[in-house]
Amino acid sequence: MNIHPMWEKYPELAKELNRTLTLMDKSVNLKNKEVETAVMSMIHSGGKLLRPAYQLLFSQFGEQRDANKSVALAAAIELLHTATLIHDDIVDDADLRRGLPTIRSQFGNSTAVYAGDYLFVSCFKLLSDYSSSLKSIQLNSRSMEKILSGELGQMDNRYNLEMTIDQYLENISGKTAELFSLSCFVGAYESGTSERFAKNCSTIGENIGLAFQIIDDVLDYTQSPEQIGKPVLEDVRQGIYSLPLLYALEEGWDTLLPYLKKGDALTDRETEKIYALVHSFGGVEKAQLLAEKYTQQALKKIKKLPDTAPQAKEELLTITQAILQRTN
Ligand code: IPE
Ligand code: IPE
Ligand code: MG
Ligand code: MG
Repeated sequence: MNIHPMWEKYPELAKELNRTLTLMDKSVNLKNKEVETAVMSMIHSGGKLLRPAYQLLFSQFGEQRDANKSVALAAAIELLHTATLIHDDIVDDADLRRGLPTIRSQFGNSTAVYAGDYLFVSCFKLLSDYSSSLKSIQLNSRSMEKILSGELGQMDNRYNLEMTIDQYLENISGKTAELFSLSCFVGAYESGTSERFAKNCSTIGENIGLAFQIIDDVLDYTQSPEQIGKPVLEDVRQGIYSLPLLYALEEGWDTLLPYLKKGDALTDRETEKIYALVHSFGGVEKAQLLAEKYTQQALKKIKKLPDTAPQAKEELLTITQAILQRTN
């Protein structure tokens, strides 16, 4: 099983992430071969496995850590993440994911919907087999609700020029940060830490997730599709106004407005003009600074974690910093 090369520097974690991916692969068994092929090709398309990595690292802080259980719960979260990506690409009408054609563009929307559905089911099957109580299942269901609510908040605000930065933050807190937060909570809690400790881990995850999505939105304004393996220049045209644009609007409302009023009728050249303006009005830089602020908050809390798992603590610090500097 091949996992993302970013983990080479962390051999023990890489071993468990490999086991996580193997378990995800093994949990797929469908009569419908087309849907099975779709699910398999997504599982093996080289995702970064960040959420399971956090989950596995936080599980090191519990005294009752059981590696098999930690790996299974990490696989469950990544199955959930994978499902959301397949469905997200349908909603966003995206052609590229992880540098490859999306499931919807390879197999069509129906197969893609079922592939995502199957992954949701697989997530709950693993969870119910391995959780020590109903707690993780309850939390997972609540997280799914929050992810959906973030996505719906984003949809409700499409082409909304009055959208505020607080609304943006609320949406990304649901659609992205929630899953990071859940990974960190479940990792700790299911290996026997107190609920109080796990909640602190969950806050760390929330900060990491917010920084992660802001950086993702910054990359949309700074990278090529080849570099990030996903489409760029699509958010604005689809009416998704992310942080760099919202900051730029604070400075350059009058200049940007005539373009944004065109809605989905923007030409490529006009879209590129918007991107240039977002840079020149300082939107990219300001967004980067906010991502840094959330990362610093996470790092500060990680540094205060007990020294019972020194290696995990060190790796949490390095990985969290590396996410801020990522370019893909
Ligand atoms: C993509 O997440 C979706 C966002 C929250 C921006 P990742 O960048 O973690 O996706 P993969 O799994 O590594 O492709
Ligand atoms: C990511 O949505 C969050 C979910 C998948 C729920 P985006 O649409 O912002 O992410 P990318 O850019 O397609 O990965
Ligand atoms: Mg998308
Ligand atoms: Mg989306």
